[in-house]
Amino acid sequence: MRVYVLNGPNLGRLGTRQVEVYGVTSYADLVTMCVDVGRELGLDVVVRQTDAEHELLGWLHAAADEGAPVVLNPAAWSHYSIAVRDACAMLRGPLVEVHISNIHAREEFRHHSVVSAVATGVICGLGVDGYHLALRHVAARLAATD
Ligand code: DQA
Repeated sequence: MRVYVLNGPNLGRLGTRQVEVYGVTSYADLVTMCVDVGRELGLDVVVRQTDAEHELLGWLHAAADEGAPVVLNPAAWSHYSIAVRDACAMLRGPLVEVHISNIHAREEFRHHSVVSAVATGVICGLGVDGYHLALRHVAARLAATD
C-alpha cells in the first residue's frame, strides 16, 4: 500500500540546519531511509517536502482521496496553520504526526500543534527515528485491519 511521508518548510535543509537540534542526517538520507524501511515493511513509501503551504494541502487532499496513510512533519505550520489541520482532518487513513525535536522542551510557541488533535498519534523528540517508528506503526496497523 502507498504511504505518504510529507514534510513542511525548511525540512529540505536537514543535515545542515541547526544540527544541534535536528541532527546530521540530511534530507536525502531521510528519504532513502524512509523508502528502504517501507520496502522492508511492504509499503510503497513516497516522501515529499515543500516550503509552499498550498503544495502540502494538495498532497493531503490527494492522500484523502486515496484513503492513504500519512506520516506528516508539518514543521512550523504545526503551530499555526488551520488550513493544514483542516486538510489533515479530511484524511481517511491513519495520520502520524512526527517532530524530530521535542517541541515541548523548546520555545513556548512550539509547545502546541494545531494538527495533533486530528492526528492518530504523535511522535516527537526521537530524532529521525520518529519517521522509522511511524512507518512501523502504519505497517502494523494496516496488517491488523487487513
Ligand atoms: C519540527 C519542530 C517545529 O517547531 C519546527 O518549526 C520545525 C521542525 C521538528 O521536526 O522538530 O521546522 O517540526
